[in-house]
Amino acid sequence: MRAVEEKAARAYRKRFDHEPELIASAPGRINLIGEHTDYNGGFVLPCAVGRRVAVAMGRGGDELYSTNFDETRPMSGEKDSSWADYPRGVVWAIGETGHGIGDFRAAFAGDVPLGAGLSSSAAIEAATALALDALFGLGMDRKELAVLCQRAENEFVGVGTGIMDQYASLLCEEGAALLVDCRSLQAQSVPLDLDAAGLALLVCDTQVERGLADTGYNDRRAACERAAEALGVEYLRDARAEDLENLSGEELKRARHIVSENARVLEAVEALRAEDYRELGRLMYASHASMRDDYEISTQALDAFVELAKEAGALGARLTGAGFGGCAIALLPARVADALARETRARFAERGFEEPAFYEFVPAAGAEVAR
Ligand code: GLA
Repeated sequence: MRAVEEKAARAYRKRFDHEPELIASAPGRINLIGEHTDYNGGFVLPCAVGRRVAVAMGRGGDELYSTNFDETRPMSGEKDSSWADYPRGVVWAIGETGHGIGDFRAAFAGDVPLGAGLSSSAAIEAATALALDALFGLGMDRKELAVLCQRAENEFVGVGTGIMDQYASLLCEEGAALLVDCRSLQAQSVPLDLDAAGLALLVCDTQVERGLADTGYNDRRAACERAAEALGVEYLRDARAEDLENLSGEELKRARHIVSENARVLEAVEALRAEDYRELGRLMYASHASMRDDYEISTQALDAFVELAKEAGALGARLTGAGFGGCAIALLPARVADALARETRARFAERGFEEPAFYEFVPAAGAEVAR
């Protein structure tokens, strides 16, 4: 078992004085390319990261314990704007699908950094959903669980995100990225062996508070919906580059990002399959520029990291996730990763940015029942 899984099991024993019946875990994610395309019915290419949320579970009782917050909360239908709303939301969403589950208690442990844009919330949802499915023999498949987790996030927690994070957490495979068509909800693994190419992916957490993230996210979403309506398509996924002539102002900029980003995801998959990392890198830089100039979700620190990556010889770099802070990634020769991290720390300090954190990236396995 992984360290976080052992930790959840220990916490369960200590807290509830019993052996857990089951232990499951689910990862956070980075997105290689395809940002804000999910709620536009488009394509995304995320990868699970090596950091996970684990849950130890058993039937009976009604308590949820978190080692991260060192607190117990009731497993009730009432929200309290805490971490416990995610597992509660999953239970609610399972009920909405018509499945019945009994009482249970659970202990959570995790090492996905919170609020960094690596989807700790999807990880807690995915771990809970997989564990409940196994514990109560619901027989749901991974895609159904992912859709249910998104519903928990949208309708119970009340955050209007797309499907990417939950899909990544439940469906990613070790050593691969996951291409998702967010309209048909079909997904396929795309092998990603950076080691063999002498490459690494450095994750830079700018540690910037994503305070305005929710309003920013909802504003972007609303602008996309207006643009789709103006073009007479259900999703911007169906708009073509030439259709953009019929838009102006904010809608034009937002739609231009979505239309070009969707095309870049498919090109990136081709590049990955051909092991053409230069091309993948070029697409990543283009994606960042589009998010900075057209989607307007970057920050000074994220832009600075992308520039420093370029100077250090990275093949590509871009912000990853919702934007407005959070993380950026750089694809670069493994031997220069440490130097880029050092340089970024120094330059961020000079410019008065928050001290960044760096995470090692390996394309990890999706959610698993560990025992
Ligand atoms: C957040 C959301 C995802 C997706 C990304 C942007 O992570 O949860 O659904 O929209 O932002 O690509």
